[in-house]
Amino acid sequence: MEDQKQNAAYSGRLAVVVEDESFEEEAIRLAEHLGTLLVDQSRADDFPLRLVLGERGLFLQDNDMQMQGDFTQMQKRLTPANLKSEMLVRAARIKNPQTTPVAVDATAGMGEDSLLLAACGFEVFLYEYDPVIAALLQDTIRRSKEVHGLGQITQRMHLKEADSVTALSDLPFLPDVVILDPMFPGRQKSGLVKKKFQLIHQLERPCENERDLLEAAIKAGPRKIVIKRPLKGPYLAGIRPAYSLEGKKIRYDCIILRV
Ligand SMILES: C[S@@+](CC[C@H](N)C(=O)[O-])C[C@H]1O[C@@H](n2cnc3c(N)ncnc32)[C@H](O)[C@@H]1O
Repeated sequence: MEDQKQNAAYSGRLAVVVEDESFEEEAIRLAEHLGTLLVDQSRADDFPLRLVLGERGLFLQDNDMQMQGDFTQMQKRLTPANLKSEMLVRAARIKNPQTTPVAVDATAGMGEDSLLLAACGFEVFLYEYDPVIAALLQDTIRRSKEVHGLGQITQRMHLKEADSVTALSDLPFLPDVVILDPMFPGRQKSGLVKKKFQLIHQLERPCENERDLLEAAIKAGPRKIVIKRPLKGPYLAGIRPAYSLEGKKIRYDCIILRV
């Protein structure tokens, strides 16, 4: 039901554009999945937003800019020394982890937080409910698998297009950590939104059910829930965490459920 609502929101606003005939079958499947039209490049300008598929992968485009996930730009942050100073990595740290610690990123977005966790050894299960964002992320992960130094990391990233409120309530495994980074009200206007993500923000829906999301995360039984918030933002669903790590602009609230 939710998917249909979202797809209806795309119709007329977004089209899939195929750049190269050899990608036509894939483009047809994508357009069907999104409930949008598939058009060739001559009709692309009829739509304010386009998902363009071709040799270069999948990217999102409007009349001013285009964006595509690119994990290679994060490679410098993925060295063991640099990972140690990443706030998210410090927030997600757990004592005596399983041989392979398991994280769920319940608000995957473009997967950057998940990449950091996968780089420091977590097997990461990502959930993203927006089908366009999920398609862009899937393509980013797929392209990264071919990149030296990223392939081994991204093979630990498993994306599913789903609403986490449902998915977390029904997980077939017990995660060590659940990460929550729902878009907070007012974020679109905030200086925190990097230019490269402005296009994506046209698609993101602010979290309307943050209490349900947090309750589903608790129900999944992790040792820890890590919540990304703006530095001065309210606690998610008003629940006070055990502790917070604070940076210049953001804060990680950590709720401890098991030690
Ligand atoms: C602020 S972005 C997350 C950015 C991400 N942490 C990163 O590193 O790229 C929030 C994302 O969560 C998704 N989202 C919000 N609520 C969700 C839910 N209940 N289930 C799945 N995805 C959700 C939104 O569509 C959006 O893409």
